Amino acid sequence: MAFSNMPHCILMFMVSFFILTLFVAALDVSDSVAEAPGPGSGGDGFFPLAKKHVVIHNVISNKQTLNVHCNSSDDDLGLIHIRWNRYWGFRFRVNIWETTRFRCHFTWYGGGSHYFEIFNVWRDDNEFGKFPACSDCIWEVGRDAKDHAMCRITEDSDPYCFPWDD
Ligand SMILES: *[C@@H]1O[C@H](CO)[C@@H](O)[C@H](O)[C@H]1NC(C)=O
Repeated sequence: MAFSNMPHCILMFMVSFFILTLFVAALDVSDSVAEAPGPGSGGDGFFPLAKKHVVIHNVISNKQTLNVHCNSSDDDLGLIHIRWNRYWGFRFRVNIWETTRFRCHFTWYGGGSHYFEIFNVWRDDNEFGKFPACSDCIWEVGRDAKDHAMCRITEDSDPYCFPWDD
């Protein structure tokens, strides 16, 4: 609307104030709220700074240990070994630009080497998207080698399954 007519400094002031408010809000939350995500609790999706919990469940068909290495542009989570039918997960917040994404590399004995983007805002934190937003995003890895390689589990519908990215 009238933003283009507004003096530049006023606009900058408004923007900085907005960002500052977001950070103060974030600090408040992390200080006072205990971690209590209900089982499968759906979306407090589509918000910058939303808390996310990504969980990986090893269900690969030959029952081998799954080796996982995930990273975002900010964090490298290192190489993790998940035994068959065990879980491993990590927590983070979506950044204020909503560009947060994590990609993982998976290997296991007899299974080769595969990549999958395990979190992005478009798919996993989008109230108007094709898939429901998740705050606990639980993935079964290795149901099969093709279209059901990665399946996001939900409480009230069939899982959403995807092939590897590679
Ligand atoms: C993971 O790290 C690699 C190498 O540093 C980088 O190129 C890649 O963009 C990172 N992945 C994501 C999702 O940012």
